[in-house]
Amino acid sequence: MPGQNPYIAQGNVRLPTRKYKLTIIDENKREHVIEVDPARIPYDEHGLDGSILGTAMGCGVSLDHACGGVCACSTCHIIVRKGLETCNDATDDELDQLENAAGLTVQSRLSCQCVPNGESDVVVEIPAWNRNLAREGHG
Ligand code: FES
Repeated sequence: MPGQNPYIAQGNVRLPTRKYKLTIIDENKREHVIEVDPARIPYDEHGLDGSILGTAMGCGVSLDHACGGVCACSTCHIIVRKGLETCNDATDDELDQLENAAGLTVQSRLSCQCVPNGESDVVVEIPAWNRNLAREGHG
């Protein structure tokens, strides 16, 4: 399947069966609201099917994703402000990568590995200073 690392366990992913609202707060504090339609999953080839990264990219909302969405970096770090309980559990591989993310919180996830099941709306935030640091580091 596209956007998945065959050597990484996929965890307990459950795809949504009904529409839910995904709000992404970008680095400029702008809100992007996406009505996620299960019939359109996957929106994009990045990350796990139904992942926040793939859905965002497929809807024109840009998220950093240096490794292409295969759980091999930490640039797609997001903070899940609402609806974290509706998302699949992070695998050990995801937690290992997250340890490298700046500004780690208990609500942190890799957006390419985070798949909401649609049981409630989800609000995520892109950590702004994290992105800026990464960009400065790469010129
Ligand atoms: S894009 Fe690299 S881990 Fe998500």
